[in-house]
Amino acid sequence: MTDSIYREIILDHYQNPRNRGILDPADFTYEDTNPLCGDEIRIDVRVADDRVSEVKFSGRGCAVSQASASILTEMIEGKSLADVKTISKDDLLDEIGIPVSPARLKCALLGLKVLKAGVYGVDQADDEDL
Ligand code: FES
Repeated sequence: MTDSIYREIILDHYQNPRNRGILDPADFTYEDTNPLCGDEIRIDVRVADDRVSEVKFSGRGCAVSQASASILTEMIEGKSLADVKTISKDDLLDEIGIPVSPARLKCALLGLKVLKAGVYGVDQADDEDL
């Protein structure tokens, strides 16, 4: 695909975000901000049989951060928590598809940072339950 098609994908996810909203209750919820700008993302996940059964994101921020979070939620629907843990920043950047400048990298990766903190938090909770 050409860069312009990828740019349209970002714009489409920004204007028509997938899985936007809140899950209450959720099995795990995490939120964080980009320290450079204060923009926020929250991710709520429901888990069934160790898989992501439902995911929603909310927050506010630039097009890259919001579109990237939307893309990320599509990537993890139905995935096992073990697989979610293996998603790397390169996996997400590949999915976003356009080169992200160093200045926008924190925007693009904010959702992944939130997701990872949430999913590892679940593990800690499980460990404590044992
Ligand atoms: Fe704040 Fe992009 S400018 S997350």
